[in-house]
Amino acid sequence: RIAYVNGAFERHGDAVVHIEDRGYQLADAVYEVWALFDGKLADPEGHFARLERSLSELRIDMPMSRAALTVVLREAVRRNRVKEGLVYLQVSRGVAPRDHAFPTDPTPPSVVITVKGVDRAATEAKAAKGVSVITTQENRWGRCDIKTVGLLPNALAKQAAREKGAAEAWFVDELGFVTEGASSNAWIVDRDGTLRTRDTNANILRGVTRHTLLDLIRDQGLKVDERPFTPAEALAASEAFITGAGSLVLPVVAVDGKPVGDGKVGPVAKRLRSLYIERAR
Ligand code: PDD
Repeated sequence: RIAYVNGAFERHGDAVVHIEDRGYQLADAVYEVWALFDGKLADPEGHFARLERSLSELRIDMPMSRAALTVVLREAVRRNRVKEGLVYLQVSRGVAPRDHAFPTDPTPPSVVITVKGVDRAATEAKAAKGVSVITTQENRWGRCDIKTVGLLPNALAKQAAREKGAAEAWFVDELGFVTEGASSNAWIVDRDGTLRTRDTNANILRGVTRHTLLDLIRDQGLKVDERPFTPAEALAASEAFITGAGSLVLPVVAVDGKPVGDGKVGPVAKRLRSLYIERAR
């Protein structure tokens, strides 16, 4: 495997950033993940737009133009000879002696890109069966709209899910509504066929997959309600699923060990998954 680090392509095993990188010490960094289909980045512009927004919220400069970044991302993909997979980009504020406040000397951002292959046959098999999720109390900071690498609550939630044989953890806010998953957005299909997902004015990540899927759903003439739901409403719904660059559209068949609807993968999630993949290819 080959990684990109600050202007150079290196063997993945040899690629390093400095111990005083602010991403490492302070999680002062943002990231993006693209799904890769047949060597092509899915939704490139949506991810660039969100990257620019995350960086500007943290007052970190875009390390290079969208055009230059596109070239570097494509080159990283090419060098890894990966067709189906995931591309990870991280931009930190850079390397500086540890201090919570920003460095005063000009500091170039650190840029890292990695590429990994995904076994599509295995993920399709998983999607065909559906996955379980657990719920956990929302304990993240107030700016979940910024895609920072400060993912400790997400990592702990995901580990708790794994220990219960679940694929994802849904955070639940103090009003009892699901905010989102540890690395995905959450959806249900109500009994009347209306799709429901939380609005993005709230404190969640504006998923690029979510956005594309909303377009697809409207093209299909399906109804969408951008309103939060509770775990109990998910159990009473006919279907549930999650979206993200890693999950794509992944049916959820159980929440906290109880079946969603009839406990089987439903037709809406199944169809939206294939429509999404068809569009990304
Ligand atoms: N996660 N919500 C959270 C908290 C996420 O981390 C992600 C993505 C999403 C979905 O966003 P998108 O559709 O743009 O991928 C929602 C990535 C895949 C990750 O952390 O690996």
